[in-house]
Amino acid sequence: MQKTAVIFGGTGFVGRNIVKALAQRGMRIKIATRVPEAAFFLKPLGDIGQIVPVAYDPADYNTIAELISGADYVFNCVGILFEKPGKQSFTHIHAELPESIATAAAISNVKRLVHISALGIDTSSSNYAASKLDGEKRVLKAFPNATILRPSIIFGKDDDFFNKFAKIAQVAPFLPLIGGGQTKFQPIYIEDVVKAALQAIDMPTSDKTSPLGKAYELGGAEVFTFKQIFEKLLHYTGLQRCLVPLPFEIAKMQASILSLLPKPLLTKDQVESLKSDNIVGKKALTLSDLNIQPTSLDIVLPTYLTTYRPGGRFSA
Ligand SMILES: NC(=O)c1ccc[n+]([C@@H]2O[C@H](COP(=O)([O-])OP(=O)(O)OC[C@H]3O[C@@H](n4cnc5c(N)ncnc54)[C@H](OP(=O)(O)O)[C@@H]3O)[C@@H](O)[C@H]2O)c1
Repeated sequence: MQKTAVIFGGTGFVGRNIVKALAQRGMRIKIATRVPEAAFFLKPLGDIGQIVPVAYDPADYNTIAELISGADYVFNCVGILFEKPGKQSFTHIHAELPESIATAAAISNVKRLVHISALGIDTSSSNYAASKLDGEKRVLKAFPNATILRPSIIFGKDDDFFNKFAKIAQVAPFLPLIGGGQTKFQPIYIEDVVKAALQAIDMPTSDKTSPLGKAYELGGAEVFTFKQIFEKLLHYTGLQRCLVPLPFEIAKMQASILSLLPKPLLTKDQVESLKSDNIVGKKALTLSDLNIQPTSLDIVLPTYLTTYRPGGRFSA
């Protein structure tokens, strides 16, 4: 019997990479999405009929429960970086929706539920972090055997972080180092996040390595400050830009203007989250507990950031 997986947020960066890996295993996949047409690009990753986008309403429990019914595995990869007044709130997307997914998964006797959260949420004072933490608690209450994955910044060919800043660096004369750029991160390769998600459904449950009911902090091979990350970005894009320190308070003032954009480049809450480090805790379960070796940033960044070089990829 083919197993069935339901992936919420399967159209996103993390979700679509998990879809690809599950499709290669021959699994039947339902993509839970608000706009099925926007998920059609995923269908060629599988055989005919193997990957099916299905519409759901994040505010309607019944559509969630219907989608999950009969599934073996459920992955929740839904997340937002900013709120839109009256349209999308952190509480709804990061706490209430995961709770609905976990409740429906428990009622449907789903074998494994994998919930993607975020690193550093227990030390950050941002609203983003508070909602993510609330979401984890609600998921574990409704589905105590869920596995929670908390990644740091994720890098990979179609990531939203390095590509976004590389595009900005192409046109901007400088890059801002918010708070001096001393916040620490532990960027992780998307393929390692996918491996962790697969281990969460593959690892045996009979001994102490069981991933059921556990949270794993996913950080890469090295820790970098924000400034060092920008230096890597400039190195691999070959762009020469100044890195200008920007105090948190001034960054917040800029963010209040940038927040007015339909897709804000920076919000006050994101500035707040930059006040605390984003690295794996000393006592946390991590990649090694899932038998995964992290991939170095320096191996992967050159494979896609070189396209931003002045003169193009093949310039000297
Ligand atoms: N990327 C990173 O560096 C990173 C780092 C740490 C943690 N994470 C976490 O990893 C998870 C996946 O991140 P990602 O980078 O893959 O995100 P993403 O590319 O932005 O995709 C998120 C998905 O969420 C759904 N979504 C977006 N807005 C929504 C809304 N208002 N209501 C309901 N659904 C909405 C979308 O699915 P549909 O449009 O198909 O409905 C989208 O495909 C998130 O929980 C995120 O917090 C990511």
